[in-house]
Amino acid sequence: MLFNIFVPGLLLSSLASASPSASRPKRAASILPLSTKGRDIIDANGDVFHFVSTNWPGHQEIMIPEGLQHSSIQDIVAWFPKFGLNSVRLTFAIEMIDDYLANSPNQTLEKSVINALGQSNGTKVLNQILSYNPQFTKNTTRLQVWDAVGKELSKQGVIIHLDNHVSKAFWCCADDDGNGWFGEKFFGVESWKRGLAFMAKHAKENWPTYSSIGLRNELRPAKVSEPVDWYTWYVHMTAAADAVHKADPDSLIFFSGLAYDTYIDPIPLGKTLNGTAGKSSANKTAKFVPGEFAYKDKIVLEIHKYDFEATQDDCATFKRKWYQKGFQAINPADPATKYLFPLVISEWGFIHNGTYWNQTTYAKCLVEMVKEYQVSWQHWELSGSFYLQTRPGRKPLETIIAGEEFWGLLDYNWTAIRSPITLENSLYKMIGALNG
Ligand SMILES: *[C@@H]1O[C@H](CO)[C@@H](O)[C@H](O)[C@H]1NC(C)=O
Ligand SMILES: *[C@@H]1O[C@H](CO)[C@@H](O)[C@H](O)[C@H]1NC(C)=O
Ligand SMILES: *[C@@H]1O[C@H](CO)[C@@H](O)[C@H](O)[C@H]1NC(C)=O
Ligand SMILES: *[C@@H]1O[C@H](CO)[C@@H](O)[C@H](O)[C@H]1NC(C)=O
Ligand SMILES: *[C@@H]1O[C@H](CO)[C@@H](O)[C@H](O)[C@H]1NC(C)=O
Ligand SMILES: *[C@@H]1O[C@H](CO)[C@@H](O)[C@H](O)[C@H]1NC(C)=O
Ligand SMILES: *[C@@H]1O[C@H](CO)[C@@H](O)[C@H](O)[C@H]1NC(C)=O
Ligand SMILES: *[C@@H]1O[C@H](CO)[C@@H](O)[C@H](O)[C@H]1NC(C)=O
Repeated sequence: MLFNIFVPGLLLSSLASASPSASRPKRAASILPLSTKGRDIIDANGDVFHFVSTNWPGHQEIMIPEGLQHSSIQDIVAWFPKFGLNSVRLTFAIEMIDDYLANSPNQTLEKSVINALGQSNGTKVLNQILSYNPQFTKNTTRLQVWDAVGKELSKQGVIIHLDNHVSKAFWCCADDDGNGWFGEKFFGVESWKRGLAFMAKHAKENWPTYSSIGLRNELRPAKVSEPVDWYTWYVHMTAAADAVHKADPDSLIFFSGLAYDTYIDPIPLGKTLNGTAGKSSANKTAKFVPGEFAYKDKIVLEIHKYDFEATQDDCATFKRKWYQKGFQAINPADPATKYLFPLVISEWGFIHNGTYWNQTTYAKCLVEMVKEYQVSWQHWELSGSFYLQTRPGRKPLETIIAGEEFWGLLDYNWTAIRSPITLENSLYKMIGALNG
């Protein structure tokens, strides 16, 4: 996500009990693989499937999923069914795969943690990770940790969606942070495609509930990069999708839009995708015609929605404005729609401080949007705190060790729900919106 303003909130005492009123979405490997049919994602039985997820970040400096210094993998995964979620959006960095393929000595837990946190804090956190997760040693590699996470999610029936969040491992996203657009400082296109293919194949072969992968989180403008335009998007996103499809023909492939994935309407509208005058893409055009691709029944569009403008729009206005950004993809009745695709709200969220849900109309109107359009969603995020966060938007660059995530479903220690009243009025209503 675009980095949010960090406002320390009131910590409500909370209970570890979660019980969404709605019936639970389906969870089982037997419903895989997923594919698409018009505006819907369908499972192996032909039934409509909705991702009902939260994000579990694993793309920051240490490059393993967050929270293992506070809890066992088994206990973290157990939160998903407790919340009533059927799936996870698990974020990763390309740097992890680059290191793996280079056989880097820095991949052990010990090196990963100490390189990120320094000797003394790193040793402390390493020991905490090992005490909660005694199946690991300091020599366990990052990918072995990911395998333990992937296998536990599968064991507990949680569908796994991978998301390539960044290339270089740190918090996402800010303008000109090096990770934002093809060819930018850290965003090497070849290692990106290689990393995507590697992860899709690895997940398919090792994690039974792996279903899908997002090609890139929040593409955004950059000053020094390839031209920032839809033509360049087309060239690289379709090549990456080809690489993923070859690596795992079963994966759904999520395509994100531009400007931090806030709009993707040119794709369902079948618009000409243009290059940029005066740049290497000048006069070049392409059209995204789904029928031309080997992966035509695997294409899913994704869109993000945050509340940075603190909206007080009434829900009719909120829905009308947002619809224009890409919901044409799921509306066969819209004469402007040229191609139907499933659409997933792959990030939404806000501070869980007990009052924000009622301070703007965002939380309420999101529920109405999901109810009306019946789309999958992936909340941001599970984590109550981070190992480390490097915040590229801040000057001077800010590094926060053991920072609290006030937007997280869980509290600082990953032991309880951060804000039950927020869940009652947001996450659980979002679940209800897909259950009639
Ligand atoms: C929750 O966060 C919002 C936005 O920062 C703020 O206006 C509000 O006062 C906070 N509520 C509490 C209880 O801290
Ligand atoms: C391992 O990490 C150290 C410390 O960050 C760095 O100096 C070194 O270049 C890394 N080695 C490799 C092979 O990546
Ligand atoms: C260790 O972490 C604490 C916060 O938990 C921080 O204040 C301190 O600066 C860190 N030490 C080093 C050497 O980074
Ligand atoms: C870790 O690896 C080193 C070097 O191979 C070895 O000496 C050590 O015994 C290993 N430690 C553990 C806990 O596996
Ligand atoms: C590309 O250019 C054409 C012609 O100017 C225009 O109609 C179309 O809307 C443009 N495409 C996008 C995605 O803006
Ligand atoms: C793009 O087209 C314009 C108008 O036809 C032409 O003047 C220009 O030279 C072309 N630019 C490139 C890079 O081909
Ligand atoms: C906040 O809650 C009150 C009382 O339930 C309700 O009338 C009001 O519409 C809510 N405001 C928002 C922005 O959701
Ligand atoms: C987290 O756990 C530690 C150790 O048990 C405790 O001291 C601390 O108060 C807890 N913090 C929160 C925010 O619950």
